[in-house]
Amino acid sequence: MIPEIPENPRVLVVGNGAREHTILWKLAQSRHRPVLFAAPGNAGTEGWCTPLPLKVDHPQDIVAAARAHGVHLVIVGPEAALSAGLADACEAAGIRVFGPTAAAARLETSKSFAKRLMQAQGVPTARFAVFEDAEEARDHIRRHGAPIVVKADGLAAGKGVVVAQTVDEAISAVDDMMAGGRFGQAGRRVVLEERMTGREVSMMFFVDRHTVVPMLPARDYKRVFDGDAGPNTGGMGALAPVPGFAEAGLVERVQHEIVRPVLSALAQQGIPYRGVLYAGLMLTDEGPKVVEFNCRFGDPETQVVLPLLQSDLLEIAWAVSEDRLADVAVRWSADSAVCVVLAAHGYPANPRTGDAISIHEDHLAGFNFFAEGSDRLSPASGEAMPSDRQEGARTGFLFHAGTARSDGRLVTAGGRVLSAVGVGEDLEQARSNAYRVADAVDFAGKHCRRDIAVMNV
Ligand code: AMP
Ligand code: GLY
Repeated sequence: MIPEIPENPRVLVVGNGAREHTILWKLAQSRHRPVLFAAPGNAGTEGWCTPLPLKVDHPQDIVAAARAHGVHLVIVGPEAALSAGLADACEAAGIRVFGPTAAAARLETSKSFAKRLMQAQGVPTARFAVFEDAEEARDHIRRHGAPIVVKADGLAAGKGVVVAQTVDEAISAVDDMMAGGRFGQAGRRVVLEERMTGREVSMMFFVDRHTVVPMLPARDYKRVFDGDAGPNTGGMGALAPVPGFAEAGLVERVQHEIVRPVLSALAQQGIPYRGVLYAGLMLTDEGPKVVEFNCRFGDPETQVVLPLLQSDLLEIAWAVSEDRLADVAVRWSADSAVCVVLAAHGYPANPRTGDAISIHEDHLAGFNFFAEGSDRLSPASGEAMPSDRQEGARTGFLFHAGTARSDGRLVTAGGRVLSAVGVGEDLEQARSNAYRVADAVDFAGKHCRRDIAVMNV
């Protein structure tokens, strides 16, 4: 319990995706009854959050708006904001912030930085080499052969990784990144990695200077088509918790073998970490190994993890910003959650926008259904969250991402349009609830995977 949180604290969430809609929805249930701001938010956060039309990578504008609105706490969604120094700017302005500084965010923004730090700490990860010279990188590929993984060093919106099956494919990826300038500065340096095999799991942790608290293990479905076919996307769906992961003692193992040593190495360099640390893991025959770190909540993992959080997210974020995470209890529901992303026609290469969206709430009769505009489980009503009610059997949510309003109509405005989320007593029930919500939404060109949370896919 954090006693000094004022009544109706002003909280600003930075970002415009379904991840941020989910964070805002969760904050709206706080016992402190916050006043919410979204910078910039989307059509799903309008009406109950004050929209601030700002660019996420312009920290000074965000700080100025936070000051002007008397904001007590800023919660940062996207890595672009962290990498631009938003947490640093908030700290300098004396505004509480949930999210790491740009120096700490290098765990995500520079793959070579993260890999070297892991290597120095003996943290399990794929063997690697870093190159700034394209000819040396090509040489390395010819000597090592394929399969081999080619990664742009910097941020590339999830598109800077090529798992090459042949030497030619790897060399053309290097040419693209280093000579072709495909990712600008981010690709001037590349990391070449050994290919790992195994199941992938996303583990997120709440972190402050002293304390690390795990969230539920999640799985993200990255490929656009069923059966994990087609190109990589920002994420087509997710589930939590991952069956068997916690039971095998893997949460503790990841915390002790991976997260702790990485955070202490940063601390030794004078870099404290505050916010969410996300470890993307591969469960190899030799145990969990790090694929990547992210310095923020995952998208779409957040859409399945936060609906299962029973504690007050506002208190957790506030506590983290003051290095007092140890003072709050973080409790989880025993339910499961599944998210199905509804994507626009042409996603990921060329998403079409401007298609009218219809939400048929009448198809969800008998559901505890939360959506923007729905009064049945309105976030402002202060009702207990669904996982606390004994009615988890039929619970669904619709979180917005690429949506906008045009002449009063809801239209598509981005590649990933909506996240349909189902909660249930087990994954099967959660899955069926998620698809009930997904199927209650229509727009021209709507695409979703049908195999999210189908086991063995
Ligand atoms: P990243 O952006 O680093 O998470 O990489 C995107 C995806 O590429 C991962 O989710 C994995 O599926 C794949 N990947 C990245 N690194 C490796 C690796 N060393 N071995 C096998 N697959 C990888
Ligand atoms: N779901 C992967 C990410 O958030 O980067």
